[in-house]
Amino acid sequence: MLESFVPTHRVRTPLKDQAALIHGGDYNPDQWLPMMPGILEKDASLMQATGINSSSVGIFAWTSLEPEQGRFTFDWLDRVMDTQASIGNRVILATPSGAMPAWVAEKYPGVRRVDRRGFRSHYGNRHNHCWTSPSYHELVKLIDSKIAERYKSHPALAMWHVSNELQGECFCDLCRKGWCEWLESRYGSLDRMNQAHWSHFWSHTATAWHHAEPTDGVKDGLSLDWMRFTNQQLIDWYNFEARILKASTPEVPVTTNFMTTSFAHDYDLISRTVDVVTDDQYPGYDPEQPNLTKYAAFWSMKQDLYRCFKPGCTFMLMESCPGSPQWRFPQRVKRPNVHRLEMLQAIAHGADGTCYFQFRAGRGSMEKLHGAVVEHWGTERHLQTRRYRELRSLSDLYTKLAPVLGTSVRAEVAIVYDWQSKWGQKLSYGTGVPSPAWDGHDLNYFDEVATEHYIRFWQRSVPVDVVPDDRDLSAYKLIILPMHWSCTPAFAKKITDYVDAGGTVVATWDTAMADEHNRMLLGGWPGEGLGKVFGIWIEEIDRNRRGTPCPITGLPGTGADVAAIMHLEGAEVIASYTEDFYAGSPAVTVNAFGSGRAYFVGTRLDGKALSSLYGRINSDNSIASILPSPLPKGVTAQVRGAGDEAFIFLLNFSNRSQSVPIGALRLKHIENGDELYGHIDLAPLAAECYTLIR
Ligand code: GLA
Repeated sequence: MLESFVPTHRVRTPLKDQAALIHGGDYNPDQWLPMMPGILEKDASLMQATGINSSSVGIFAWTSLEPEQGRFTFDWLDRVMDTQASIGNRVILATPSGAMPAWVAEKYPGVRRVDRRGFRSHYGNRHNHCWTSPSYHELVKLIDSKIAERYKSHPALAMWHVSNELQGECFCDLCRKGWCEWLESRYGSLDRMNQAHWSHFWSHTATAWHHAEPTDGVKDGLSLDWMRFTNQQLIDWYNFEARILKASTPEVPVTTNFMTTSFAHDYDLISRTVDVVTDDQYPGYDPEQPNLTKYAAFWSMKQDLYRCFKPGCTFMLMESCPGSPQWRFPQRVKRPNVHRLEMLQAIAHGADGTCYFQFRAGRGSMEKLHGAVVEHWGTERHLQTRRYRELRSLSDLYTKLAPVLGTSVRAEVAIVYDWQSKWGQKLSYGTGVPSPAWDGHDLNYFDEVATEHYIRFWQRSVPVDVVPDDRDLSAYKLIILPMHWSCTPAFAKKITDYVDAGGTVVATWDTAMADEHNRMLLGGWPGEGLGKVFGIWIEEIDRNRRGTPCPITGLPGTGADVAAIMHLEGAEVIASYTEDFYAGSPAVTVNAFGSGRAYFVGTRLDGKALSSLYGRINSDNSIASILPSPLPKGVTAQVRGAGDEAFIFLLNFSNRSQSVPIGALRLKHIENGDELYGHIDLAPLAAECYTLIR
């Protein structure tokens, strides 16, 4: 059975000539060298002792490289590169454009961003340059090409890191000019743009391109376009820097680090531009948090999203925290074993490395209390710390796990995760379901809802792909559309053809509501012809306060938050509402369409109801699982492999021991070589890896 999940071939790994899992971190010795010239050797020996095999260098080091315009000081970076090479470490070398020196801001005021009120910012902070400024382009081109030329043949160079967490928007005249050009090339005529933005509303009709005011917020189609435009500015900026690097080193991969499922960035689109997908993630699991299982499932879903961004290349964590970040309140340190669990979760879902922010904590400024591999005081005493022991043993495990490099998984189930839908739904005034912090962790409603569907498979050990809506979906046995708000005719046709040909689809409320301009679809929801696929139409959607029960009958469990009030047009009822004026009307339906089936879920079903629904769907569609029985609460099993090699990971996101039945599988523990049959006992918060004995 496991064979069906294992692809025949390995895919590309993140680093150039990568032979081991990456275990590294941001390394900012430029902050230390002026005070402690001997820090490089000390750090190198602590890196070796801890098993840190890579470092991300130079991320915000512009002033150390060019203290005044045209005076370059690369000697310290030469030493860093050479020291890293001398211990066999791989360097992910950054361009320094993420933080401008004060002299740049002072001499070229146009590089500083303009905010939505029209004020140009003072010098300060980071991630704050104008996307368009010709001066910033010139200055960055010079420093980047100097770095690229100087280190292009350095043996330590393994990957380029463009800027850092690219983000933000600028409303200066030049960016506004770019916006107008973008609109003109998208729409061709003002008339077409006005129709797309529904501009006759409140007399907002544009009679010139610059009338499309990005700060307005009234026309959400326009706001959606502004998000697309700024996303494109980010991509253009990335490409601008990447081209400079590639001119010197066409064979060295280039990346920029993402921020998980950040609302402001369509990482699906951005991932198509980068060579390697990398993420900065900070779950901060607390074994005592009440919703740990669901929270952990969200992070697994995120890993699967990242695995699927670039099917031809594995991803990696560019940043994570071995302790606790200073911005988390309260700053409770990571409990024992949590770090291993968090890192192996990423590896289990296909990452080929995990790195930290940062190797050595700074002594001053905003991030001095951010957990790091080595604290600011770090000397040989580091070797006496719990963090050292945990990271050392993780390094040893990574050495044994080298055969997982480039392996992946073949899933039968896909969840469509789409930023355009997330943007469109959220920007539409009237769709709001407030999403207060979730156990102190602020996940948006869209992510929560997607996780509720994802977790049903996660706890049954069924692999899931998390993919954008323009991917080929035809090979999946089941496609899930949580709140898939935006629906183009092409997507509607794809789903129609898929179900017609025998596929199964599950959609929730707020699916197929608007077109690509965020105008509501005509002809009833779900629109664009999908109504006939689902065999329903929706009259109204009752949106309640978060957590408001919406009881149903027909499935165990209940609904909450929202109730799509539907009419049947061929579909059968699986569950109905039992309260309010719509009691008795359908809440969950299924429609036989062509050779397939289309399920529609009108309310936010709880775990019981969704488990029951997916239990039935999985068995009707013979959807296979890695392990034969449902797993104990909080435990997941994941597999990755290639050819005849398969690696099974068991992760226990609970603070208690668990016994996991493994059916007829015979597994070998990758660290101690134990052979296991029947069941496996997992310690609290355990993360273990096994190979398959054939
Ligand atoms: C982000 C940044 C890092 C650092 C960390 C702190 O991920 O990329 O430079 O500021 O946050 O958590």
